[in-house]
Amino acid sequence: MPPPDRWSRRDPIRYLLFALIATSIVWYLHFGGNANREYQGDINARAVLRPDDGKLHIVVTGGAGYIGSHAAMLLGEAGHAVTVLDNLSRGNGGALRVLRDILPPRRFRFLRLDLGDRPALCAALSRLRPVPDLVMHFAAVAYVGESMGDPLQYYKNVTVNTVNLLDCMREADVKQLVYSSTCAVYGNPDELPVTEATPPLPINPYGQSKLMAEEVIRWYARSDPSFSAIILRYFNVYGSDPEGRLGEYPRPELRSQARISGACMDAALGLIDSLTIKGTRHPTEDGTCVRDYIHVMDLISAHVAGMDHLYNPPPLYNIGTGKGVSVKQFVDACVRVTGRPIKVVYQEEARPGDYAAVWSDVSKIQRDLGWQANYTDVEEGLRHAWEWRRLHEHGYA
Ligand SMILES: NC(=O)c1ccc[n+]([C@@H]2O[C@H](COP(=O)([O-])OP(=O)(O)OC[C@H]3O[C@@H](n4cnc5c(N)ncnc54)[C@H](O)[C@@H]3O)[C@@H](O)[C@H]2O)c1
Repeated sequence: MPPPDRWSRRDPIRYLLFALIATSIVWYLHFGGNANREYQGDINARAVLRPDDGKLHIVVTGGAGYIGSHAAMLLGEAGHAVTVLDNLSRGNGGALRVLRDILPPRRFRFLRLDLGDRPALCAALSRLRPVPDLVMHFAAVAYVGESMGDPLQYYKNVTVNTVNLLDCMREADVKQLVYSSTCAVYGNPDELPVTEATPPLPINPYGQSKLMAEEVIRWYARSDPSFSAIILRYFNVYGSDPEGRLGEYPRPELRSQARISGACMDAALGLIDSLTIKGTRHPTEDGTCVRDYIHVMDLISAHVAGMDHLYNPPPLYNIGTGKGVSVKQFVDACVRVTGRPIKVVYQEEARPGDYAAVWSDVSKIQRDLGWQANYTDVEEGLRHAWEWRRLHEHGYA
């Protein structure tokens, strides 16, 4: 092959072409295949992952998101191999960078794909090696208010994408599923606390689309006796990794939809002028909504316990603390934890689609899975959230 300098003298365009090809080859060898790539793209795309002995290969959809990233981290640290599927429409690429840095390459992979793209999803699932043992399906849009304004997005993203996922799991011969559902399926229950036998009567498209996805899973299970699953209905998730590696950072453009803990931290950091509590005339003790706040670490430990309880028909469990805390009490705790002067505005009008009070009866999960929440003091969980957020004012950037 003639040396490039002779080419460059004769033909600069050929020289440039040669340089471009050589750079691409070096780039591919360094970043392609099994090596770590930038987090916006795939990581370890073609690797054959290797879980520790006796551990599983678990697909975590929505693993760039708040809850999914915590799950991926804890599962990976426990020796499972984790493949994250996420389209990064909502999550944080920075969370994937943290996962890439914490977990060994043989136990972590990320594929950027949209669960709405059925052919791409089926192709990706079928190619994964080893064949996944289990899928934890967290990926979803998940804001009550947003669902009222754009219901179709919710039925597509939550319900239809669950259909796609099951379809592709069938093609790839993946037989086990842990499904993230929500207490929003209960709507405004007549009796509290909410048990798994409380009739589901959702009052917003988010809750309705989740309930429909649950139904899809139940009917699919009836058609395939070798399939097993568990359905977990979470109450309000908050807190973050107590070691400060991961946190909750919804995209700034979603700030208007924000959950109360994120909004409180934004207000504490001065990113918004005030914190608005929406709805002050609910039939509750202080007039604000009452919720059951479950720490994200407890939530993931319930998933780990649930992995040993995958059955057909799929069992259903509430995941909460069993304790109701009003939004006002939660905000007061948040103000104490941050120690910052937060202007709290009380707005009489409730958010559309909001229910007054829900908290869980957790006796079924305690009895069957031997699981219960460890963090029952919201101030402690908020301290974890604040520790991360105060150091990550603008998220993972
Ligand atoms: N946060 C809560 O309080 C709460 C309560 C009950 C249930 N849940 C459920 O838990 C799950 C996770 O919620 P979260 O709070 O971590 O939300 P999140 O927005 O932080 O994470 C969701 C992730 O899913 C991804 N995603 C969305 N649509 C996708 C698609 N079409 N293809 C691929 N990836 C897609 C997003 O990019 C994001 O990374 C959701 O299913 C939600 O309904 C959450």
